[in-house]
Amino acid sequence: MKKSVIAIDGPAGAGKSTIAKMAAKKLNYIYIDTGAMYRGVAWLVLQKYQVPVNTAQVLSVIEDINVRLAYDDNGNMLIFVNEQDVSTAIRTPEVTALVSQVAAISEVRQKMVELQRKMAQDGSVLMDGRDIGTCVLPNADLKIYLTASADERANRRAKEMREKGYDVDVEEIKKDIIARDEADMQREVSPLKKADDAILLDTTKMTIDEVLQEIIRLANA
Ligand code: DC
Repeated sequence: MKKSVIAIDGPAGAGKSTIAKMAAKKLNYIYIDTGAMYRGVAWLVLQKYQVPVNTAQVLSVIEDINVRLAYDDNGNMLIFVNEQDVSTAIRTPEVTALVSQVAAISEVRQKMVELQRKMAQDGSVLMDGRDIGTCVLPNADLKIYLTASADERANRRAKEMREKGYDVDVEEIKKDIIARDEADMQREVSPLKKADDAILLDTTKMTIDEVLQEIIRLANA
């Protein structure tokens, strides 16, 4: 029998969004990329303020922010911030550099978590992030913690960025990934952590297809 709510957590670059998107499609579930929501907040902060930004500035931005998810005809998730489609704009290095700071603020998390829980209430949802199994959906039917070595994650991220036309240095990306992992794991509110009842999937030596098959198997088990 299919599970109705699936939570996938793990560090940056573990392949969560690629895999989660594909698994949701196969299972006919709604895919919710919660990282995109924090990125949307960071994007709006950058529209209004110059870095370095402080907490008060971020708080002013989330007061009346409107974050809405939608899906195109191919089932790809789109994100709208204050009714502007920012699906591509949230992937820039500038947003990536700011997002951990924004995601560490408890008021930001409260707002996003409330939205995420509402989105999951009807089931048939696959949600990925950092705190889905531990905080957003503690009663999820299936929890997976997806990880891979920092080297492998940096290589994958570099390949992805190159395909998008960015000129990138793998060592720089690895440094960024490690710094972001540390920020995400050490923040006070809902740090990145494997839920006790999550299944650990180390994808370092696995192909995308192998990971996908394993998740489908677990979902149908
Ligand atoms: O998965 P991603 O790289 O798009 O996530 C962007 C940032 O958002 C990342 O630094 C961690 C944070 N995040 C979070 O704190 N909680 C989530 N549920 C999802 C992402």
